[in-house]
Amino acid sequence: MPKSDEIPKSILLVCLGNICRSPTAEGIMRQRTAIAGLTLKIDSAGTGDWHIGEHPDSRAQSHAKQNGYNISKLVARQVSPQDFLDFDLILAMDAQNLKDLQAIRDVAAQNVSSDKLGRLALMSEVDISYLNQDVPDPYNGGADGFEEVIKRLESSVDAWIDTWINTWQH
Ligand code: 4NP
Repeated sequence: MPKSDEIPKSILLVCLGNICRSPTAEGIMRQRTAIAGLTLKIDSAGTGDWHIGEHPDSRAQSHAKQNGYNISKLVARQVSPQDFLDFDLILAMDAQNLKDLQAIRDVAAQNVSSDKLGRLALMSEVDISYLNQDVPDPYNGGADGFEEVIKRLESSVDAWIDTWINTWQH
């Protein structure tokens, strides 16, 4: 039986800019966990600082809206070592995000024992359809890229929710 501490109470979704993938992931995670009856703290952040204070990219907003997610009010921020104290699970959109987050987690671990810090994983870690694959960065591409992001995120969010619900039921 999985330990109860493997069920997160708080989740941080992280990409590079916090204006395309991770706010979309936040919108999808908020909606689908609510439908599943789960009460979780959910937020998103970027490893980069270029877009701090901005709302999501207008293309991300419009593709999200077309698919039933309103992310227009989200505001970009940068991830920090404190986030590893504030969140149980930190999900990286791609392998580079994961690498950058590991370095930030290492900074947090200088002051606090590592087992008190949030767990770091790839967004696709439990998703058999896209196992350990990146959520591709859509920023410099076209509309297809934004739709692909939504398709992959819906799949991976559902996979995480299945994992948590199965953990609860055992
Ligand atoms: P995101 O996309 O990481 O999915 O938010 C990007 C947004 C902005 C930039 C790169 C990726 N940028 O270089 O400004």
